[in-house]
Parts: sequence; structure tokens; C-alpha cells
Amino acid sequence: MDGFNRSCVLALLASLHGTCVSAAPHPALPVDKTAFINQLLEQMTPEEKVGQLRQRFTSSEMPEPEVLQTIAAGNTGAMFGAAGRAVLRTLQDAAVKHSRLKIPLFFSYDVIHGHRTIFPISLGLASSWDMDAIALSGRIAAKEASSDGMDMTFAPMVDISRDPRWGRISEGFGEDTYLVSRIAGVMTKAFQGESPSSPDSIMACVKHFALYGAVEGGRDYNSIDMSMVRMYQDYLPPYRAAIDAGAGSLMTALTTLNGVPATANTWLLQDLLRRDWGFKGLTLSDHGAVAELIEHGVARDGQDAARLAIRAGINMSMSDTYYGQALPGLLRSGEVSEQALDNAVRHVLNAKYDMGLFDDPYRRIGMASDDPTDAHAESRLHRAQAREVARKTLVLLKNRDHTLPLKKQGTIALIGPLAKNPVDILGSWHALGQASQSVTVYDGLKNALGNTATLLYAKGANITEDKSSFDRLADGKIDIDSRSFMQMREEALKIAWRSDVIVAVLGESRGMSHEGASRTNLNLPGRQSELLSALKATGKPLVLVVMNGRPLTIGGEHDLADAVLETWFSGTEGGNAIADVLVGDYNPSGKLPITFPRSVGQIPTYYNHLNTGRPLTAGESALYKSQYFDLLDSPLYPFGYGLSYTDFSLSDITLSTQRLMTDESLDASVTVKNTGARDGETVVQLYIQDISASISRPVKELKGFQKIMLKAGEERTLHFTVNEQDLKFYNSSLEYAAEPGEFNLQIGLDSQNVKQQRFEWQCDLCDTAI
Ligand code: BGC
Repeated sequence: MDGFNRSCVLALLASLHGTCVSAAPHPALPVDKTAFINQLLEQMTPEEKVGQLRQRFTSSEMPEPEVLQTIAAGNTGAMFGAAGRAVLRTLQDAAVKHSRLKIPLFFSYDVIHGHRTIFPISLGLASSWDMDAIALSGRIAAKEASSDGMDMTFAPMVDISRDPRWGRISEGFGEDTYLVSRIAGVMTKAFQGESPSSPDSIMACVKHFALYGAVEGGRDYNSIDMSMVRMYQDYLPPYRAAIDAGAGSLMTALTTLNGVPATANTWLLQDLLRRDWGFKGLTLSDHGAVAELIEHGVARDGQDAARLAIRAGINMSMSDTYYGQALPGLLRSGEVSEQALDNAVRHVLNAKYDMGLFDDPYRRIGMASDDPTDAHAESRLHRAQAREVARKTLVLLKNRDHTLPLKKQGTIALIGPLAKNPVDILGSWHALGQASQSVTVYDGLKNALGNTATLLYAKGANITEDKSSFDRLADGKIDIDSRSFMQMREEALKIAWRSDVIVAVLGESRGMSHEGASRTNLNLPGRQSELLSALKATGKPLVLVVMNGRPLTIGGEHDLADAVLETWFSGTEGGNAIADVLVGDYNPSGKLPITFPRSVGQIPTYYNHLNTGRPLTAGESALYKSQYFDLLDSPLYPFGYGLSYTDFSLSDITLSTQRLMTDESLDASVTVKNTGARDGETVVQLYIQDISASISRPVKELKGFQKIMLKAGEERTLHFTVNEQDLKFYNSSLEYAAEPGEFNLQIGLDSQNVKQQRFEWQCDLCDTAI
């Protein structure tokens, strides 16, 4: 190591005091975290303190001299976007070898669904409902990122969203509070491992606090206006879950919440986060968000923006301009107190301490002699794990007459702009994933079929013909074939006619489901649907493989295709995983973590809605009922839905009691049977409805689930435990409590088709006047 450790900082502090000249720790100096940081703070000039609050961006392979000078001058606390151990070492050298106090930098990166080995996008990971698989993806991402020198990831992103027009829905884990909260905890722990200080851990930065997924109209960066009950009940718990799991840092949303930008929101950052939730970690603004306070119309200028943000509780400013420019002056004028500044700096230094950087600033960067000769070397990837996880994220949405799995014989026509596309399969936020290392569906099928069947390929269509729309996308790379649609379709039809079955791989480009990529319609883009219709006209069995980062309105395509497989953007090993399912080497078990609407007009679509006073009830008149008269009321695919190559049956529910008392628990059991001919996994889901309460409660809410594997013919009785905790909700005074009364307990293999039983909860201690 480069000879830097905590004892050096202590020695440095001591030498600054003139008390010690040796490199050994001064025996009189305190070594506990608080004392250590207090000592350090005492040595810092106001400019050095402000410097610690600035996180700068660089993506260049060799940092510009200006960046290194700023670091050496003590004007930078952290860097993001830089990748590669050599460049990080150069940056760290500037801090620990050339700055006055030698305070190390930390390095962050957007490690969202994998670092070098790319796992399925978060929405895909959530479709596995498999906490071990999700944890594995996070742990591997942490190992790969830390061995590249990263200290922090800007993840998990746990924004609940009910609006698939929003492109960032792909980055989150879906619409459900319970499921997303579970995953928030799992991902946080997976990133941080034993401790954020472990050399193979990265600190989690939960984002985007708060409610970013509720932007009006699904338009990115738009405003959010929401009732407190809905906020507390549905949107806030996942952030809290990540914090309770130990997340060391948190990033605010770029948006306003009820008129106040999150970055200047004292209620969010102080009252809720610090006071009520007890968060002790570091708060970061999002990219340039302090400056955006001016555009939001709450700050007059940069100085005002910096003042608002630091006072609200933003410790560190990402891609900073105004903390650097304005804070020194604000301190001098007394508009920002020294105490407020010290408080923010303390959080930054605490985080660095927690990441182990004062012990060794190079703990993740390592020594130059250990740098990999090829950073992209195959040996640095975790392909087997990526394939294993990716298979679990695929959701079978339709399978008429067992069209799938495909027989490993005859001729298969593989058609579509995403069939042989190594770029888009990685999804957005693909970190350091290399398209040259990703397995396409074509590659995967070739691997799976070997010489047993003939595989023919044609592109058939472009993802879209509208080149101009790509200029408006952040991740706008797309390979547009210059041939006309007619030519491409003809080529595709030629191979389709020669084949026994057609597999069409259609969907979005990765940039379409990304930051700044909102859509007003959710159809398959371009002329892909026309292509599917033309393929259907051949009369051959037709399998639709969808690749996308959000629910799409594919009702028409569902009707055309004999089988539909949702694959999201499934990552480096996506093609192998998809092929495993297509040919039946793996029996699909994914379930949707989000509702698919039939039409954009139905949005927001979510399963846990309120009943309304006039619900549409099957078999009853539709007049004056809550509905759209021009479309079916139900979603295209409900939350929790997904098929298997085998079938499962569910018995009626048995309750251990129909009267649950305070401090007791109830056992709800069902017997699940694999009635088909193949072994398979399914997810058994528990929902509860509070039938009558002081405020209207959802028609159902997920309260538990179990993913089980059953052999063909096997049956198993599953038990779910329910107690008062599961019945609690935020009432109109924002008290979190259960109310006595009747509950409807539902168990199903999706959120729509459920078995039901009623029970009553009696509360000895409750005020029955509620
Ligand atoms: C995004 C964040 C991301 C940051 C750094 C911002 O534009 O909103 O989610 O972590 O950039 O890349």
C-alpha cells in the first residue's frame, strides 16, 4: 500500500499541532471515530471544509490537470463517474499525497444492476421474487465494483412507480411497497456486505428521496403532489427499509414534493429522515440539483440555492457548482453557520471513516502491481451467476397449447431487431458492462440447440424508424438498418416460411427506458407490430419474446402470438438465460412486480387501489360505475402474474382461528400442488384487505410470499403467519396502527385469482370508539 493509514492522519494532525514528528500514531490522540473526526475538523480551514462537500464528475481516463489541482488544493471531497484503478489511484494520490490534510476521496459509480457482469435490470430482478438471487446480484456487483476501486454505489433505487410512461421505472423494483421494501433491504445488505468498510463492499446510497417515481404524467423530473397518507403508506417505506438495513448514504430526488424541491426540503431531510427515522449517514443531492433550485423557482441565484440546500440538510453536492462558489461567502456573512457547515462535513468524514478510507485510502484501488492487465478480462466476470439469476427473472405471459418450450429440432426462425443485439440487452445504467461480452438471444439459442436444429435469423424491422427521437434520449445509440421496412419484412418472411416455428424478439432500445426517457404511448415502437402481424399471417406457431424496461401495452401482440415471454433487459448472460427458457432447459418462474395496462389511458394502474363507492362488479350493471366505458376494467397482466411450463393448484385456505386477538398470531395455510408433468417453481402470494376502517383501505395489499419448488405431482402445505403488525396502516392522523374489525385474507399465484377467507381482529387495548 502507499504507506497511508489512519495513523498517518493522526500523526499529521499531531505534527500540525507541533506535538509529533514521527509517522507513528501519537499515543495521546484519540482513535475513536468521533474524536478522530473532531480532531480533523479542528485542523480544517473553511475552504477545506467546503471542499469536502463537493462531489465532482470525471469520466476521462486521465484526469485533467485542473481536476488534480483542485483535489490537491483540498477543494474536492469525492469523485464520481471515473472508472479504472489507475485513474482512481491518480485521483487519490492527488488527495492523500498532495493535499494539505491528506483526506482521502471516495469514489462513486452508478452500479445499479451489475458492474462488469450485468444482471437483469432492477424491474427484472424484482420479477424473480427470489431474495437470494437478488442478493447474489448485489454482492457480485459490489465485489466487481470494489475491485475496480469504487467505494460507493448510487443504488438501490427504490422509487415506487405506478406509471410506466416514466422511463426510470426500469431502474426500480416495481409498484408494490412490500416487495420493494424487502428488496431495498436485501440490496443494501448485499452491497455493503459485512460492513461498508470491507474491501469487497461498497456503500449503498439509497435514492431518490423521495417519491421520484410519482412524477406527474410519468414525465421525468416533473412535479409530485401527494397526500401524506399515501406518501407514508405506499411510497416512503422502501427508503426506510434501506436505511434500517444500514444504508450509509442517501440521495435526494431531482423533483419537488408538494411544491418544495427535495434538495431544499427541510421536512424531508431533517424532520423525517434524521429526527423520525434516525438516519445517521450522508445525504447527497442528485446531479446538479442544488443549481436546479433556481429553475425550480425557490432560489434567486446560486448563493441562495447553496444556502437553501445546506440549511435543509444536503451534506454533499453532486456535480457541484454553488457549494464551492457560494458557501465561503455565506459563512462569512453568517447566512450559513459554522455549525451547519461542520455538521455537513462531519457526515462526509464519517462516511469516509465508515468506508475504511482513513485506514487505507487505497483499500479498494489496490496496488498498481496488482492491476489487471485487461480490465475487461473474461476471468473478471461472473457469467454462471448472471445466467442463473437472469433465468429467474423471465416471466411467461402466455403459452397457448404448450407452444413453449421449443423442440430442439427442425427449423426455427429468429426474427427481430433485438434478437441479435448485444447492446440493448444490457439495459440502461449498464455500468462497465461490455456489449462485446453480452450473449444475444441468437447466441443463446445457437448454444442451446447445437446441431440439433437449424436456426435462421433476420432482423425484420428497426426498433424505430424515427431517428430524431433518439437525439432526445440520453442513451441514444441505436443501430438503424438503412434498408426499407418492406425489404426487411420480406427477408424475415422468407425465413419464416421455411421454418417450423417463429421466435420474434421485439421491444424497446435500452435508452428508451432510461433517465429522461418518458413516453406518451407504450406500444411496441416503430413498425414492430406490423412485422408481428405479417409473421402471424404465415400461420406458423409464433413466440413473442419482449425486451423492454417498462410495462408495454401489448394486448394486440398478446392476441397474435401463441406464446409471450417477458425478458426485460436481461444482461450479459441474457441470451443464454432466454434460450434456457425457450428450449425448456429451465422452467420459468418469474412473476410481474408491476401491472401491465391495456392502454395508456388506464394509467395509473396498480393492484392495491381503493375500491371506490361504485366499483364495477362482474355480473352487475355497469351504469354509473367507476370504469372506462371503452375498455375492459382489468389490466392486461396483473401484478404477481406469471406462468410456468407446469400447472399448480391451490387448495382453499385454512385459518387457525377466525378471531385474532392482540399479541396473538394467526396461521393461514394452503396446499399447493404441482398438477403438471414437470418440476417447477411458483410464488405463493398473501394479500390482506381491511374491509372497514377509519379511512378507505386498498382492495388488497401484499403481506407475504413464498417461492417454492415442487416436483411434478408433488404437493406441499404452506403456512403464513399473520399478526397485528400486518394489519397496521397510517390513519388520517398519520398514526401507524391496526384497527379492530374484519379482514379478508387472500392467497393466490397472482394478485387477481385468489382464494379468500375472512377473520376478525379483536383488540383488547384499543379504543373501540375509533
Ligand atoms: C441520476 C442519478 C444518478 C446520477 C449520477 C443523475 O442524473 O438522477 O440517479 O445516480 O445522475 O450518475
